[in-house]
Amino acid sequence: MAPGASAPGAIVFTTQMSRYAMLLAPSANRVYADQAPRISRAEAAAFSPVLSAPLENLDEAEIGGVDYLTFDASLTPRDVAYLSNLSSAYALFERLEDELLRPVRLTPLARYDSDLITIPKYAGKTNENFTRLLLNVTLLASASAPRMLDGHLTVCDPVAGRGTTLNQALMYGYDAIGIEIDGKDLDAYQLFIKTWLKRKRLKHTAGLVPVRRGGKRAARRLDITLAPSKDDHKAGAVQKLTVLEADTTRLDGLIRANCADVLVADLPYGVAHGSVTEEGGMSRRPLDLLERAVPQWLPLLRPGGAIGLSWNTKVAKRELAEDILLANGLEVVALEDLSHRVDQSIERDVVVARKSG
Ligand SMILES: C[S@@+](CC[C@H](N)C(=O)[O-])C[C@H]1O[C@@H](n2cnc3c(N)ncnc32)[C@H](O)[C@@H]1O
Repeated sequence: MAPGASAPGAIVFTTQMSRYAMLLAPSANRVYADQAPRISRAEAAAFSPVLSAPLENLDEAEIGGVDYLTFDASLTPRDVAYLSNLSSAYALFERLEDELLRPVRLTPLARYDSDLITIPKYAGKTNENFTRLLLNVTLLASASAPRMLDGHLTVCDPVAGRGTTLNQALMYGYDAIGIEIDGKDLDAYQLFIKTWLKRKRLKHTAGLVPVRRGGKRAARRLDITLAPSKDDHKAGAVQKLTVLEADTTRLDGLIRANCADVLVADLPYGVAHGSVTEEGGMSRRPLDLLERAVPQWLPLLRPGGAIGLSWNTKVAKRELAEDILLANGLEVVALEDLSHRVDQSIERDVVVARKSG
């Protein structure tokens, strides 16, 4: 019998390709304007390694005057579960004929009410859609990608601000570690998260403790445990949230090594929000911060872990950011173009790099 031919009488299963159209959330247009379909396409492409087969003919299309992402695939329920987390996913349809769309239920990771992410509003907040994109592409490039849907992963944001990445990590069911130099940000985040947990009547523990090093107060640490239900909390199935008020370039043992699956950072833009040094000095160059911080961040990352960074390319060229990552022994991961305009003074780009496994 010729290789590949089936024995007489054997049942042959063929995987039927379908055509799909993903409706993009209106909020994506608010973040990326007319670049939303391109950015969504680049993000969708990053999901290919975890899908049962890569998406084919991934493209942008306007159907009935609205933007869709279109592709051909034979999606399993797990594939749909993965793609449901695409940061701009609003609704998925199977295209029966070009004009007929059959809804496919999306099943995103959503452990808590969405207001965990949408309530906080403040100057300097990283947009929540974009934060999810950055977390997704970083996770998908890491050795933990196969556990994205069901794993107890740990996400670290080493320039955490008031916690957009941390909240997104909690939403996905993960543990979260934040580092932020500005004590006012830690105070504001603490107030928000504790109020939110109380209002949602979620069982939790919370404590703010000083951390001492060499006899001196080196940092403050907020420790929170939470769970979506009383039973989970009682059974110890809790998520841990830790936020350190500290200089990310001077961690020296403040955080245990090998604690994070991914490190996700929206670097200071070098515009209104500079990178701060503990001495109170302000550097307008995010690369200064990156150069000093990456050697501190590397030990936190587990083997096979990934670092995902976004920054303002108007003040720091992409090649220079990549050089810093390469110089620290990381492998830069190839992604489709995710660069986009934020406003007059900010052009944002994304780079993801992996630590060898
Ligand atoms: C672009 S903001 C991040 C905003 C955050 N993603 C959010 O949505 O709240 C960058 C943050 O880096 C912090 N930062 C700057 N230099 C730092 C340092 N040396 N150590 C720790 N955090 C620093 C700034 O205080 C600022 O909060």
